[in-house]
This record gives sequence, C-alpha cells and structure tokens, in this order.
Amino acid sequence: MLWPSRRRSGKLLLVSATIVCILITFLNYNVLKELPMNSDPQGGSIAIWQVVVRFRDDSVHLISFLNYSGLNELPMNSDPQRGSIVAEKISKEECQVPHDWLFPFCESKIQYMQQLWGTNAECYVNRHKLKPENLCSALIYLSEVERFCPLLPWRRRNSTSTKEPKLAEMRFELDQAFIDTLNKLNLRWMRDRITRMWPQWVAAAKQFTAEGSLRRKHHVKKIFIFFGTYAYQPMWLDMAFTGAPLGEMVQWSDLIAALYLLGHDVTLSVNSTTYQSYMSPPKSPGCSDVFEPEFDLIYTDYNGLTYMLMHITPNLSPYICRIRILDSFGTDAQFNYGAYEGVIPGDKTMWARADLNLRQIMTMFPHSPDNLFLGFVVGEPIPEDVKPLKKKPIGLVYGKDVQFWQGKREYLDTLHKYLEIHGTFFAMSEAEIKENVPEYVIAHGILSKPDLEKLLQETKVFIGLGFPYEGPAPLEAIAQGCIFLNAKFDPPHNRLNTRFFKVKPTLRNLTSQHPYAEVFIGKPHVFTVDISNLSHVEEAVKEMLRTEVKPYLPREWTPKGMLERVNAFTEYYNFCEHIERWPPLSEMMLLMGAAGKSCVDVCKERELLCEPTFFVDINTTEDLKKFGMKCSAVETKESLLAPSYDVSTHMCTLQKQPVLFTCVAKEPSARRLCPCRDFQTQQVAFCKQCH
Ligand SMILES: *[C@@H]1O[C@H](CO)[C@@H](O)[C@H](O)[C@H]1NC(C)=O
Ligand SMILES: *[C@@H]1O[C@H](CO)[C@@H](O)[C@H](O)[C@H]1NC(C)=O
Ligand SMILES: *[C@@H]1O[C@H](CO)[C@@H](O)[C@H](O)[C@H]1NC(C)=O
Ligand SMILES: *[C@@H]1O[C@H](CO)[C@@H](O)[C@H](O)[C@H]1NC(C)=O
Ligand SMILES: *[C@@H]1O[C@H](CO)[C@@H](O)[C@H](O)[C@H]1NC(C)=O
Ligand SMILES: *[C@@H]1O[C@H](CO)[C@@H](O)[C@H](O)[C@H]1NC(C)=O
Repeated sequence: MLWPSRRRSGKLLLVSATIVCILITFLNYNVLKELPMNSDPQGGSIAIWQVVVRFRDDSVHLISFLNYSGLNELPMNSDPQRGSIVAEKISKEECQVPHDWLFPFCESKIQYMQQLWGTNAECYVNRHKLKPENLCSALIYLSEVERFCPLLPWRRRNSTSTKEPKLAEMRFELDQAFIDTLNKLNLRWMRDRITRMWPQWVAAAKQFTAEGSLRRKHHVKKIFIFFGTYAYQPMWLDMAFTGAPLGEMVQWSDLIAALYLLGHDVTLSVNSTTYQSYMSPPKSPGCSDVFEPEFDLIYTDYNGLTYMLMHITPNLSPYICRIRILDSFGTDAQFNYGAYEGVIPGDKTMWARADLNLRQIMTMFPHSPDNLFLGFVVGEPIPEDVKPLKKKPIGLVYGKDVQFWQGKREYLDTLHKYLEIHGTFFAMSEAEIKENVPEYVIAHGILSKPDLEKLLQETKVFIGLGFPYEGPAPLEAIAQGCIFLNAKFDPPHNRLNTRFFKVKPTLRNLTSQHPYAEVFIGKPHVFTVDISNLSHVEEAVKEMLRTEVKPYLPREWTPKGMLERVNAFTEYYNFCEHIERWPPLSEMMLLMGAAGKSCVDVCKERELLCEPTFFVDINTTEDLKKFGMKCSAVETKESLLAPSYDVSTHMCTLQKQPVLFTCVAKEPSARRLCPCRDFQTQQVAFCKQCH
C-alpha cells in the first residue's frame, strides 16, 4: 500500500534507463525530451514499451524498441499458396487499414512499417519476408507476428483441429501441491492468509455456485501471476510478518485464492530471471517470433511489466491484451498513453505509459471508473441483525511505522483525554519510538490477524493519522464495530501538492486519508475530521463516545463479493478479440453533461456510474445530435473529453485514440457525452442486472 521512499532503491530504474539509452544509440534518432532517461530521486521504475522518436521529416511515430533483426518465417510463407496471393493478387479492399478500438496502435504501426522497415530489414524482410511497399504484407505481419492489428478476415484459420478447452470445476479443497508452491516461492504470508480464510472462501464459493452466479460453464484458463515488485524487492516477502506493507500482499493472496477456487490453472513466479522461462523471450534479439502466448491471462504490476519490457520485447505484443496490472492507486488515461501530447498537471511520470486499455488496470478501491475495481477481502458478511459489540473507551492508532506518528502529539493528547490510546507499531530503534510515540500509548507490537481482531473488537475508535493512504485496515476496524476517525484533507492531496502522489500516474484528489470510507461508508462508522483543528477533534470524539455502532462491511469486501468480481473480469473481459460486451450495451444510459463537468460527476448526479466501456459505442455526431448539439464543425482528435461539444466554439470532438477515453476529464467549455449505468450499492463493479 505504501512505499516509504527511504526504503526505495533506484536499481531497476537504472537498469531501465540504461536499456533506453542503449536503444537510443541503436536507433540513432533524437528521442523526445520527455523520455524518462534521467533518474528520478523518488525512485520507481519506467514502464514504456514504445518510444516516441522524431524523424528527419519531423513527423512523430511510435515504434517498438530494441533492435529488430530477423530469423523466423512469416506464417504466410508456411502456406506457399497464400503467401503468393499476398503480394500480387489481393485487391485493395481486402487489405484496408482496419479501425478497431481493440487495436489502437494498428495504424501508427503500419505507417512505421512502411516508412522505417529499413531500420531492421534483416528481421522484417529477410526473416519474415515482409514486402514493405505492400500494405497487405505489412498488415499480415502486424496481425500475425506482432499483434498490433486485427487478423484479416480472410486469413482467419478455421480451427477445427484445436482441441476443446477443458471445462473448469470449482475447487473446494486446498491442494497440498499448491501450498508447497507457495512455500517454495517464499509466499508464506500469502499461504497463511489463504489457509486461514479457506473455510470462508469455500462457503462463499458454494453459495456462489448454488445461486447460479456462474452464469455459464467456464473453461480452465491458463493464468500467469508474476509478482514484479517482490521479484525486484524479495525482502518485502521476508518482512511480511514484521511490518512490510501488506495492502498489495492482501490483494495478491485474495486474487490467487479466487482464481484457484474458480478452477483455473494458475502459475506463479516471483523471480525476475526465471519468470522468463514461462514466456517466450525473442529467440534473436530485437526480432519478433511467431508463437502462441502460453497464457490466457497474465497478472502482474508495473515493475513486472518493466521486466517484461526488458526481457520479452519485441515478443511482448501478443501478450499485451492478456496483461492485467495491479495498481493500488490507479492510472489515468493521459499517463497510460505514452505518446500523450497534452499538458499534464505536475508533468508525466515514469510509471504507467503502458498503452493498455485502462480496464486492464486493477485497483484496490473503486477510485475511478476508468480502471477496474478488483479490491480484496476484508471478512465474512455481517448479518443484518448483528448487535453492537461491547466497547471500551479505547482508541487504536492506525500507523504501523512510528514515522507516521511524527508531529501528531497534540492530536493524540487531545484524544487521550477521552480514550486509552493503544498502538501496534514497529520501529528501527528505541530512540525512534521515544521521539514519536507518547509515553501513555499502550504498545502491542505487530499483532497477528486474530490478535488484532480481538483488540479491534474492544476498540471504540480507530485513529487515522493522515497516512498511510487508502489501506485495508480501516475496513477491518469498521467490520469489528469501530468508528474510524478519518483525517480530512482540505485542500485535497494530489500529485501537485503531495510528495507521495507526485510520481503516481493519477490526478485524483484525495479529500481524506480514506476517500472510500468517507464517501461510500460515512457516518456513523466514519467521522471525517480536520485533525489539525483540536476543538473539532474533541467534539468529534465526544460524539463518537455517545454513538453506538454495529459492525459494518459492504458486500463487495466479502469472499463472495470478490469471487463475483474475479469471475466476471476473467470471463467477460477480453481485450484480444471481440467476444462479449460486459456490462451489456443495453445497460447504457446516455447523458449529456453540463459544461465543465466530468462524466463521473454527470452520472453521479443521477445516482449512476460512468461506464467507460461504452465510449466506443457513442463516438458519433448522431449521438451528440440526439441531445440537440449542433456541431459547427467536427474534429476527430486525441482527446480526453471526446465525445464532446464545446460551448464557446460550437465544435464537436470525436475520439481518435481509443486508449484516451476517460470518465474523469473535464474542461470549462466542454459538454461531455457520458455513458452511465446503474450499480449495486454494495458491489459497485456490477450493474443491477449484471451478474
Ligand atoms: C542489430 O541488427 C543487425 C541486423 O541483424 C545486426 O547486424 C546487429 O548486430 C544488431 N545489433 C545489435 C546490437 O544486436
Ligand atoms: C472457413 O470457413 C468458412 C465457413 O465455413 C469458409 O467460408 C471459409 O472459406 C473458410 N476459410 C478458410 C481459410 O478455409
Ligand atoms: C532468481 O533465479 C536466479 C536463477 O535461478 C537466481 O540466480 C537468483 O538468485 C534468483 N533470485 C532471487 C531473488 O531469488
Ligand atoms: C482537484 O482539486 C483541485 C482544487 O483543489 C481542482 O483544481 C482540480 O481540478 C481537481 N482535480 C480533479 C482531477 O478533479
Ligand atoms: C475548528 O473546529 C471548530 C468546531 O468544529 C470550528 O467551529 C472552527 O471554525 C474550526 N477552526 C478552524 C480554524 O477551522
Ligand atoms: C470516432 O469516430 C471518428 C469519426 O467517425 C473516427 O474517425 C474514429 O476512428 C472513431 N474513434 C474510435 C476510437 O472509434
């Protein structure tokens, strides 16, 4: 969840920067300034798999990096008859540049191939028999070798020979071999969590099946999980029991448990070298091979993606649509699109730039509808008729690292007038504790989950210090009937005013330490208070002591809630082929926003959520006209606002670059056309009629 910068190292960054430098030398072009070549003192890593280069004619192209050099054969040559068709006999109509939102870089790749094939003629021409002047040949290469374009309809093979995939069966037993794998990979903390929660998972899975929530038989998917961050920092795994950040580890555990229960074939790797043996690095450096990806889905994080960029490029392209990134805080469109040319407040960051569909990026909380809310499990569902627990006037401080306690003395003193203050923290030294933790605090050290739960059951107030941001702990406390004292931020924290968010690829405003608790839960479970205003704190704590609250946990944080999401995301989202739309298009409610509003706001006003998957369906002037917009002119460009109508120029804007469709953008003169849907109040990832 949090990555204190004092523990960070820039090693991976250095490696990445070196690679980029080498590439630049290879390519011998002037790379645009924003390329992350300079090391950033904040640490982190870069994840780009495309480099923007400026050529002599001053036009900008996207190209994959590394030195392309050739061996294998283009598949068309394995069929001599078809191979010969390609060059001469196919009419132009059969080889038009396709417009398909699943392939947002097809067109720019074709341009590149036609103009710059010579940079790697050995690979394209000698090995893959590309005919650079021939559009058909380029399209075939870019759809069958590098998978940046859709397969040409007449090249589709009638796959009668491929064997039927196996039907998945729910697993209700935790297999010893699976436990052994977790042990072997030093994922002992995850093993303990999965084992401890297994009975809850099984109960949830049985209910899930009994309700018919698996709305169809599903097939066993081959799924690869590569823990990039732990491969880069193995010590996080060693420190899991002694205070390492656990937010991500919680999420990984629960994801693995859910995929395992659903019967999928899960492969794990936590090593930055050996993970490659599960994938297909290029046989010859810089030249793509023709191969079928080993996995249907690959879950990783930005560090994992960076490793893949270093090792698997240029063979990464067939994997791209299968990749899912776990990204706690979320990624906004302008950071995801590496070639974004607009102004970004606070500038670009080295993170993101992955050019994925934003729905391939999964978050801890439902931050922005652009990303997928994967979440994690907090606990079992709480019965409707639950009684409030017997509480003592105890306040437990939310802050595992004593560094977070710095400067909070007066705040804690104020609370201490009314509460016995407890803490579960660790420190590097006694001196550090003395300096930051008031002497009246009853210290427990780092507690095991059951011990922590016991303490929370007696605790009245769970005390936020303003940091860490957006962790799982407040939800655990609220589920034990605590009231969470949530630190309000005014002005909100964001990448412009807060160091922690400076390098994060999101412009999101955090109005408190835990916006989910503030917005989706609220009083009486959550009091969001300016903790620097001591009279306000005092009033709040008095009110809390007068308030009796029941344990509370929205359904999306239960094992069944998580299982529903993981199942839906695994079955219904496919970014490789057009298979099924989810949520179905029939769920769309189209609204025209007022000028200056984002689609998040526009949908929210009608108690709906913006659903970005529908943007591709409303990218037309007809849809704008339905709302009476009279376009003086129409421009199709790379835009965060499209489709939209400008109230000052009366221009209509359509989208040129599908990866830029976003719910969160707004501009004073833009009226946005917004696709909304309804949602289940305790499972916001689903519309009411979706399952
Ligand atoms: C780049 O590719 C060319 C053509 O195959 C090859 O001669 C050259 O050695 C390659 N450069 C590197 C650094 O691999
Ligand atoms: C595949 O099957 C379809 C329909 O059966 C047929 O029209 C088409 O020609 C076949 N394509 C090839 C490449 O055999
Ligand atoms: C990863 O595997 C390689 C090769 O087996 C080994 O040399 C290296 O020590 C491993 N790294 C870690 C962090 O375990
Ligand atoms: C964040 O809040 C600031 C004002 O505090 C506002 O100017 C800005 O537009 C907000 N950003 C977003 C993305 O909503
Ligand atoms: C502090 O909180 C009190 C009580 O809520 C409020 O009346 C007062 O205006 C606040 N002071 C400041 C400086 O915000
Ligand atoms: C949006 O519509 C315009 C105009 O028809 C078209 O050129 C563009 O490719 C469309 N964008 C997407 C992402 O479909």
